[in-house]
Amino acid sequence: MTAPPLHEVDDSVVADLRAKLVDPKTSLPEKYRVLFSLRNVKGTAAHEALLQALKDDSALFRHDVAFCLGQRQDPRAIETLTNILHDTKEHPMVRHEAGEALGAIGTEECLAPLREHLEDAVLEVAETCQLALQRVEYLAAHPEATNEESPYYSVDPAPALPASTPTEELRAALLDEQRRMFDRYSALFALRNKGGKEAVAALGAVFGARSALLKHEVAYVMGQMQDAQAVEFLTGVLKDGAEHAMVRHEAAEALGAIADSHTIALLRDFAADPEPIVAHSCVVALDVLDFEQSGALEYADKGGEGEAPARRPICPCRG
Ligand SMILES: [Fe+2]
Ligand SMILES: [Fe+2]
Repeated sequence: MTAPPLHEVDDSVVADLRAKLVDPKTSLPEKYRVLFSLRNVKGTAAHEALLQALKDDSALFRHDVAFCLGQRQDPRAIETLTNILHDTKEHPMVRHEAGEALGAIGTEECLAPLREHLEDAVLEVAETCQLALQRVEYLAAHPEATNEESPYYSVDPAPALPASTPTEELRAALLDEQRRMFDRYSALFALRNKGGKEAVAALGAVFGARSALLKHEVAYVMGQMQDAQAVEFLTGVLKDGAEHAMVRHEAAEALGAIADSHTIALLRDFAADPEPIVAHSCVVALDVLDFEQSGALEYADKGGEGEAPARRPICPCRG
């Protein structure tokens, strides 16, 4: 479970990217291209440009910046991420991502802020902090833990149970409201790794669950799986205006990852959704698709040496 390596880039390149980020004429999809370029760059200039990006007006964008700060595992981000987690005026999705990023950095300093929010009034923030702490504890007890069974290139917030576990057992664990979030996530990733119709159906059943956090993660992995059998579930989520924006956001991006004529038409419709997080997700997803269709296979990361191809080129947030 490791993040992609960071690479060296000339500071003048980072300065140009940062200037683009703060230019009011830069569109949101263009800012995403800048973010995806910055996120794998080493050094102080890139780190500071990312902190600057946290001042953006779009909550969707800020949550992805927070995610990138976690993936970089740079302890200099801890103070900023802690402030975001504490800030009850910040959008819950951004606070969630700050909590998850603290868990991804996982040093001693990250534990106190996570413990402080275990019972946060915002359920998805509380659950994120519970999950992050459970992950840190698990990794401390199992330093040998790897993500070997995962066919996906992602740093998962919990290790998957063995894919040999019966689907019914995984489904029962995933849907059990009494189980720890960590156990439910472990079942979720095992179902993803298994794949196939029954696994997709078990994952789809989660959309009747209480936890927005769990539902948004399922929508995310459906995008990773790129299985057309998930389209019906994801469409139902995107169309449900009463569902949490974080869940609808992941559904929109997953539909973008599956990308057929039906899902593209849906994204066009919901690009005007009254919830900005949902509308922006659709706009960015459509931009990525346009970019891919223009012949450029990778969205922004040109891919450093040894870097895996971007299976999912849209929002880097995975939960
Ligand atoms: Fe996200
Ligand atoms: Fe998330």
